[in-house]
Amino acid sequence: MDETSDQLMQSLIAKTRPGYSFEQDFYTSEAVFKADFDQIISRKWLLAGHVSRIPAKGDYFLFRVGAEQIIVIRENATSVRAFFNVCRHRGSTICQSESGNAPKLVCPYHAWTFGLDGRLLAARLMPEDFDKAENSLFACHVRVFHGLVFINLSEDEPDDFDATFGDMGPILDYHGIAEARIAHAGSYPTTANWKLVVENFFECYHCVPSHPEFCSMHAAESIVAVGAGPSSGPADAVAAFAPKVQAWEESAAALGRPIGTIDEPATSSHLRLLMQRMNKPGWAAETQDGSAPAPLMGKRSKPDGGRMHLSFSPFSQIVADDHFVILFQFTPRSALVSDVEMIWLVDGRASEAEVDIEKMIWGYHATTSQDKVITENNQTGIMSSRYRPGRYSDQEGSVIKFQQWYLNQFGAKPVA
Ligand code: FES
Ligand SMILES: [Fe+2]
Repeated sequence: MDETSDQLMQSLIAKTRPGYSFEQDFYTSEAVFKADFDQIISRKWLLAGHVSRIPAKGDYFLFRVGAEQIIVIRENATSVRAFFNVCRHRGSTICQSESGNAPKLVCPYHAWTFGLDGRLLAARLMPEDFDKAENSLFACHVRVFHGLVFINLSEDEPDDFDATFGDMGPILDYHGIAEARIAHAGSYPTTANWKLVVENFFECYHCVPSHPEFCSMHAAESIVAVGAGPSSGPADAVAAFAPKVQAWEESAAALGRPIGTIDEPATSSHLRLLMQRMNKPGWAAETQDGSAPAPLMGKRSKPDGGRMHLSFSPFSQIVADDHFVILFQFTPRSALVSDVEMIWLVDGRASEAEVDIEKMIWGYHATTSQDKVITENNQTGIMSSRYRPGRYSDQEGSVIKFQQWYLNQFGAKPVA
C-alpha cells in the first residue's frame, strides 16, 4: 500500500465506531477497494472451484477477481497449475472462454505459444537476443486441498497453506469432498461492495424478515443462537442452545463425524470458522419437506441429521448437509460489484438418477437470490447523502468480528 492509500485507510479507521456499520467510503470508494485488493484480497487463499471441473489434461477455467483473470488448468493427472491470463508479448488475454480445453496455451493475437507448465514454447520472428526462458506466463499460487482449488495472488510468499488450513482436513475427508462431483452451479452476481456480501452472510438477523424458505427449514432457536456462527447470536440464546448441540455432537461422534468448533479471533489471518449443529427435528436435510435429495456423502454409513458451516475465510464458505455440499465463493470484482458463485456437490458415487437437483437447490437458491436483492438494496441506500453508520443488534456478533478483522488487516489496534 502506498502512503496516500495508507493515510486514507488510517483516517477511515479512526472514524470507525465499534458496534456500528462502516463509514460510507468503506462500501463505495474505489480508493478503498484498491487498498482492500492490495492488502487483503490479493494476499488470502481464495476458493476458486472444485477440481472435478477440470478432469482431463488441458482442461481449464477462468477465475476472475478484481481486474485479474486467472487460468486454472490441469497440467497432467497429478498437477493443476494457475497462471495470470496475460500474454508475455504485448499483454493480450490468452484464454477468452470461461472454460475449455487447451493442449497448449496459444495467444490469439500473434500466436505466442505456452506449455501447460507456463513456459514459452514458440514465438515467431523474434530477435536473436530474445530469451524464451525469461518469458514464461506469470504463475499464480495454487493448491488443491481435498478437491478444492485455492489460488493466492500474492507476489510474495503467501501464508503457508498447510499451517493455515491443515486442521480442516479430517472434516473435509469425512464429507468426501475430494471424491465429490459437481451436480449444479449457480451465479448470483451482486451489485454491491464485497464487504456487504460478507456482512450479510455473517448475520441471521435478516433471516426471519427476508428468508421464508430458509426459516421453514430451521428451528427458530437455532436461527437466533447460531444462525451465522457459533458466537453470532445473543449470549443467553447461545447458552440455552448449547446443551442440545452437545447432545447431538455426542450422537454424531458415535457415528464417526469429526466433532469440533473453530471460531478464529479477529487477529487471525483468515478468520476461519467451523460450526456443526443438528437440523430441525425430523429434518434429514435442508429441503422443502426435510427429505434427502441425494445419497449420503463421504464416509457416512448412516445420516446423523446434522449440518456444517465452514469458512476458509470471509471469501470462501462451505455449507454441508449429510447428502450434499454447497461451496460459496464471494469474489470482489470492483468497489460496487461482487461475484457470488454457488457450487452444489454430491457424492462422487451418486448417479444422476439418485440426485433430485430441484429439491436439493430449493432452499439455498431461493435464499441466495433473496440475499442478492437485499444486499443490492443495502448498497443503494448506503450511496445516499443521508447514510450514517447504524448500530448493530445482538444477533450481528459475527459482523462485528468481521469488521474488526478487516480493520486489523490495515494495522488497526485489535479490540477482539
Ligand atoms: S500479445 Fe500475445 S502474442 Fe502478441
Ligand atoms: Fe441471507
